This record gives sequence, C-alpha cells and structure tokens, in this order.
Amino acid sequence: MPIQQPGSIELAHVEAGTVAPPLVLLHGFPLDGWIWHRQLTGLGARRVIVPDLRGFGRSPVSPGRYTIDDLADDVAALLDRLGVEAAVVAGLSMGGYVALAFAERHRLRLAGLILVGTRAGADDAATRAARDGAIETIHSEGSDKVFRGMSDRLWAPGADPALREEVESRAAAISDSALVHALHAMRDRPDRRPLLPGLSGTPTLVIAGDLDAMIPPAAAREMAAAIPGARLVMVAGAGHLPTVERPEVVNAAIRDWLVGEV
Ligand code: MLT
Repeated sequence: MPIQQPGSIELAHVEAGTVAPPLVLLHGFPLDGWIWHRQLTGLGARRVIVPDLRGFGRSPVSPGRYTIDDLADDVAALLDRLGVEAAVVAGLSMGGYVALAFAERHRLRLAGLILVGTRAGADDAATRAARDGAIETIHSEGSDKVFRGMSDRLWAPGADPALREEVESRAAAISDSALVHALHAMRDRPDRRPLLPGLSGTPTLVIAGDLDAMIPPAAAREMAAAIPGARLVMVAGAGHLPTVERPEVVNAAIRDWLVGEV
C-alpha cells in the first residue's frame, strides 16, 4: 500500500460506480466538485471519485500557504484512504494544474489523464500581476469584485442563467483565505510543459470548450500535440466549464476514450 502523504489535508469527496480503474475528477477555481456532478452519474458503472480541493466545498481550509504540488499530494492521500492504487486523474482548469502535478509526482498511480480547459505552462508576468491584484482586492474589498470580474469569462454566450446562478452562489461560499491561498498556489506553479512528451504511455484525453475565454483553446491543442498519443476533443459552443455547459458531449467523449484506451 502506498505511504500516507505527510502534511496532506483530508479531502471531502463524493463517489459513485464500481468499475476500475476509478476516475478522480478535480475541480477548478473558485468552485468545488459540483462542476463534475453530471459526470458523477453520467459515466455508467465506472467508479468516479469527486473531491473538493483544500478550502473549497466541504474540505477544510489549509492552515497556511500551500503549492499545487501539495494539492496533488492531497489527492494521493485520498487514494490511500480509499485503498485505490491507481486512477485516471481528470482536472478542469486549476484542477488540471493539480492533475499535471499528480502526473509528475505520482506517476505510478496514474492510469490515465484527462485535461479539461487547462494549460501546462506557468503564469506569464501579466497573469502573475493580475493574481497579485486579485489578492490585494480580496484583502481590501472582499472576493465579490474578483469573482464578478471573472464570471462573464467563464461562459459561452447564451449560457443557462440557472447554471450561472448556481456557480455564482458556490463561488460566493468559498472563504477569502481559501481564495487567497489558491491564487498564490496558481501564481507560483511551475511550467509543466517539459513533462508532456514523457507522458507517452499514459492514455491522455484533452478537452476544451471552443469558446473558452479564460484559457484559450489553443492551449489544449498545444498540450495534445505535445503528449504522444493524446486525443483532443473540442466541445462546440462551450466556454470554460464544458462539464456543466455540454455534459452529454463531455461524457460521450470520456466514455469513448475509456473504451478505446483505458
Ligand atoms: C480555474 O478555472 O481554475 C482558473 O480560472 C484557472 C486560472 O485562473 O488559472
């Protein structure tokens, strides 16, 4: 059995299904596992495990600063607790940063990788400065303004207002300290592009909304081109959250890929 990760946080999670290897679905910022709720029940009998990352949803807030690598170690610790040796790890946006860190740090436990609306590169100078600005705004004015600035860029035009409302209320429930810790962790994450060619042999699926205004779909194309054998699925008419905007398309893409590759 793998060794318990020191310093990890015990993550809250939900799960469904029984078929191995399980899928672990990691959410983006500033949300929680809910963004995968259509996959939790939409992937047949496959075992699906959906944690809330540190400080998000029902998981405890970290007592101090942490890194994206620490979040990957939390996921490994969750697998330890559940007695799971290896899993397909899927991550959306910030969850994708964590999935790539998991791939680097826990390679032997990786049965496959799904990267959704994410990128492998580090923040550029402008993005780092924007993160610092957001942290300052949270300290001085609270998080509402930061989320309002980001909210419109999450969605494809014409997105369902009920979905938008749900996501807004979930984001509003996240504590300021959790948001600040996550912004620091994203700002300081390393460039994981050098990892990608070495993922040959790891079945990989890359998914992006073709109208994603947060992370350009070009980032998905670049990752898919850099990972030998990766499959790329562009979801037409979806923005940054294809798992809730076009769940049928995403679920069909994951199911097809699982049958063919994992
Ligand atoms: C996310 O959706 O997780 C974030 O937009 C990612 C980021 O800010 O880099």
